[in-house]
Amino acid sequence: MASHNRLSMEDIAGGTITLSNIGAIGGKFGSPLLNLPEVAIIALGRIQKLPRYDDDENVYPSSIINVTVGADHRVVDGATVARFCNEWKSLVEKPELLLLHMR
Ligand SMILES: *[C@@H]1O[C@H](CO)[C@@H](O)[C@H](O)[C@H]1NC(C)=O
Repeated sequence: MASHNRLSMEDIAGGTITLSNIGAIGGKFGSPLLNLPEVAIIALGRIQKLPRYDDDENVYPSSIINVTVGADHRVVDGATVARFCNEWKSLVEKPELLLLHMR
């Protein structure tokens, strides 16, 4: 259904977090608003190839995206969101780390 853009309200109700791909329509960043009663929403921007420096100060091309998180602070605090973002970033950058979390 999702791959045919035919999700109903019932299909997307009852979740905890919304993951929104604003990059698919060219968005770079956003201010995602909570989809209550969910507790967080994460907006992924589009990937851009941008110059970065390695440890020896050589410039190399890097794929960069902005990730914006909105969270309900009655349920999760900012430190938890920051830890989540850092953990998620490390898994996206090194997917092989996912194997460590498999049971
Ligand atoms: C990230 O967002 C900033 C604005 O906050 C924008 O200037 C920048 O181009 C964005 N970067 C990417 C890689 O989309």
